[in-house]
Amino acid sequence: MTKITYIAFDGTKFDVEAENGSTVMENAIRNAVPGIEAECGGACACATCHVYVDEAFAAIVGQPQVMEEDMLDFAFDVRPTSRLSCQIKVRDELDGLVVQIPERQG
Ligand code: FES
Repeated sequence: MTKITYIAFDGTKFDVEAENGSTVMENAIRNAVPGIEAECGGACACATCHVYVDEAFAAIVGQPQVMEEDMLDFAFDVRPTSRLSCQIKVRDELDGLVVQIPERQG
């Protein structure tokens, strides 16, 4: 299991034990983390699963693929560490990952 901390826009922290192979979005939904809508169910087609990856993990998480980058154009308040959480697969290297949720989606 890999620990992920989600920080909601109001600062509330949600610590979640995530299974490797699942996505950061799926674990937010399963644990009722507020602020992740995931309207397309993880198909990289809605940009409502937008998160900010903590600086310390940005290099490990990596950069978005072209399709994700295109979808991020539709996200609110995009920053250099913005990612779509449905495109981040949980794996051992991400243990301790912290992601922040933007003020709103879309
Ligand atoms: Fe739709 Fe991530 S859930 S783009």
